Amino acid sequence: MSTSNIKHLVNIASLSNDEFISLINNAQHFKTIYKSGNISKIKSNHEKLLGKTIALLFSKRSTRTRISSEGASAFFGAQPMFLGKDDIQLGVNESMYDTTKVISSMVSCIFARVNKHQDILDLAKDSSAPIINSLCDKYHPLQAITDIMTIKESFGYTKGLKLAWIGDANNVINDLAIAALKSGINVSIAIPESVKFDSDVESDAVKLANETGVKFEILNDPIEALNNANVLVTDTWVSMGDESKKIEKLKQFNGFQITKELIEKGKVNENWKFMHCLPRHPEEVDDIVFYSPNSVVFQEAENRLYAAIAVINGFVINKGDLLK
Ligand code: CP
Ligand code: NVA
Repeated sequence: MSTSNIKHLVNIASLSNDEFISLINNAQHFKTIYKSGNISKIKSNHEKLLGKTIALLFSKRSTRTRISSEGASAFFGAQPMFLGKDDIQLGVNESMYDTTKVISSMVSCIFARVNKHQDILDLAKDSSAPIINSLCDKYHPLQAITDIMTIKESFGYTKGLKLAWIGDANNVINDLAIAALKSGINVSIAIPESVKFDSDVESDAVKLANETGVKFEILNDPIEALNNANVLVTDTWVSMGDESKKIEKLKQFNGFQITKELIEKGKVNENWKFMHCLPRHPEEVDDIVFYSPNSVVFQEAENRLYAAIAVINGFVINKGDLLK
């Protein structure tokens, strides 16, 4: 039986532009509160989920997503409950359906990190609590919310900027491309010819670009994608689960490492910023760029916390009314 009246965070495309922008504004608002030390505001938020629990159903490793969702739970007074793949009966003694029914009957929401996107859809179909997609093979909405927040903080605006993605085509860029287009940011993606961009995401992106006049292109040449870019982004070339393809992938991405030389050849905008969801490996970006003053990777990582707070506020406390 579907519990269709609950709003879940499945991906960025399933949010209206206003809902998405509201999440960004709220993430910034909660960052201000969090950093202000204003005890009365912190206390009033802390009481909102006091005595409740939030489950983190994670079938893959995580540093940022785990810490930010646990921290965001604590911000609202909820007890986070980490359920790693070796902790519970799921997949060994119990089905996904039974597990979803049981967990969701006892918690305020479920942050779920899974392998296949279908697992997120199955969870959302059967859960009586909101499901927050915390990374699947196809999407990573918490990262995309964070990244647009970080771009807005770095430039003071988003409309008219250009984002160049140099790397693989999966979860992170799939949501980031849609998030950027919703924010008025032009998107140029460079992927090797042998890498296929997801056709659903491409059609969502082309539709958005046609509606808004914001540019979206998929190229194979990193130098062309970098031209006049303000925001340079990449991700690992070997995603979790792809470890056995490492040698093949390193060959496939030859020429895609973001280096000072590549940035110079690409003639990026002089006030460029570098972003990466992390964890980072030196093959996709060299140390000079990664640790340069133009790199905002650690600010981006910290912002995961405020994005998670905004998501709990919208999907749990405001029961899916993201415009509240
Ligand atoms: N960026 C990100 O999701 O990092 P983790 O895998 O460490 O959660
Ligand atoms: N594309 C990466 C993102 C990690 C946050 C992966 O799926 O492993």
